[in-house]
Amino acid sequence: MTADRSTQKNRILALIFTTAVVALGLYLFNRFFGDRLEPGHPHANVFKIPALVLWALFAYFGVRVVNAAIFDFAFRLRRGYEAPSLVRNIFTLIAFTVLFVLIFKSLYSDVQLGTIFTTSAIFGVIIGLALQDTLGNFFAGISLHADRPFQVGDVIVVGQQKHTGVIESITWRAIKIRTFQNHIVLVSNSNAAREAIEVSPRDNLNARLVFFGTLYTDSPAKTIHVVREAVRDADNVSEKITPIVRIRNLGDFSIEWEIKYWLDDYAKYNDTDALVRQRVWYALRRSGLTFAFPTRTLHLERKAITRPVTAEEQIADRLSAVDVFAPLSTEELRQLATATVGHVFAPGETLIRAGDEGSSMFVVHNGRVAVQVADKNGPRTVAVLSEGNFFGEMALFTGEPRTANVVALEETEVLEIGHAAMKHLFETNPSLAESISWTIAERQADLAAGSVQASQASIQESAGVLASIKRFFGLR
Ligand code: CMP
Repeated sequence: MTADRSTQKNRILALIFTTAVVALGLYLFNRFFGDRLEPGHPHANVFKIPALVLWALFAYFGVRVVNAAIFDFAFRLRRGYEAPSLVRNIFTLIAFTVLFVLIFKSLYSDVQLGTIFTTSAIFGVIIGLALQDTLGNFFAGISLHADRPFQVGDVIVVGQQKHTGVIESITWRAIKIRTFQNHIVLVSNSNAAREAIEVSPRDNLNARLVFFGTLYTDSPAKTIHVVREAVRDADNVSEKITPIVRIRNLGDFSIEWEIKYWLDDYAKYNDTDALVRQRVWYALRRSGLTFAFPTRTLHLERKAITRPVTAEEQIADRLSAVDVFAPLSTEELRQLATATVGHVFAPGETLIRAGDEGSSMFVVHNGRVAVQVADKNGPRTVAVLSEGNFFGEMALFTGEPRTANVVALEETEVLEIGHAAMKHLFETNPSLAESISWTIAERQADLAAGSVQASQASIQESAGVLASIKRFFGLR
């Protein structure tokens, strides 16, 4: 049994005990002084006062016992949760008032209670002024209960001071909130009824936003993946909805991110926010991603140092793995690497659009792209190209418009090679034009037939392609 339930049980036992003691007092009083209450007895009215007090006490404790029996046992048993305290208070008030009037009437049958209430103007004014706020709270409490906009256990933000906490109780006078600093805030019902209240219901999947920033040099696709995986594992982050990681702003010093996640228990959002931030820190650290801090980037104009030597070597390495560039010498590869320009594309971005003009080709440095042509059933993928494959050569070498769309399947980095760089290579490597013409003829055949088998037929066509490359580049 929880501590809560045992104190409730003790309270009820104490109530029953007190009721029994008062009943005994009443019995003894009647036994010894009953005859003095008889009409006609000279001190009857004086003896009626303790009798009235004893009866009133008996009525009060009796009502409390019945209240506990109905709401603590019967209500909880039927509905499974505790009855709202406002309902209990109203019940106690009405039952006690009715009993008190009955007791009063039976002891003082000659006094007209109704007339006292209706004719006493002073009484009315006093009640009106004294109970102005109390009655306001009382009726506001009733309307809040009728609306049921929130319940015990919900997290709310209320008032101009934005009091935030978990609702502990709703009484006929006020809403009691326990803040996250473990303070109690009482918001009167009439204030609550006037103010805008933000409610995060206990049985609802409520979301939170947590922010962070990364350097512009860090890959967004990688950041999304790393952070989402780190956050979804954290305690109290709901498994029902996958956290969302998205760019909220491209700020002065950083890419600004927001994480949206849903909580199992919203009342613990401070701890969970902190845990999420901690997870993000470790995940970024493990993956080599960097939190942003105010930085200033100086771009030096000298061309030679715009690309670090190591990056150039990497590019030369990548180009040496491209089959058509196999005949090139190390020096030629280095020169070609210097002439390339790197571009990064996000997953789903289009690198080349069919029908456009094109004066450069591309080598896939990292990632994958799909070559797609429009079909009557929508886009059809004719090839998927990965690291070391090239594309865009058809328009570059023949001068024709682009033959297909090329779309990034994941974050993809490509190296762009322009017309001038290729012309220089053709002049020193005549065999290059020939091997490229083979690839072009094969790809043209694929496009025409929609199948790879057609590539045999392309052997004859490559001669035609070679001739047009030579013509286009002014080669002999
Ligand atoms: P280009 O026509 O300049 O632009 C679209 C590119 O898609 C094209 O050059 C080729 O590089 C590429 N492409 C077209 N068809 C194929 C194919 N069947 N296999 C691989 N790549 C292709």
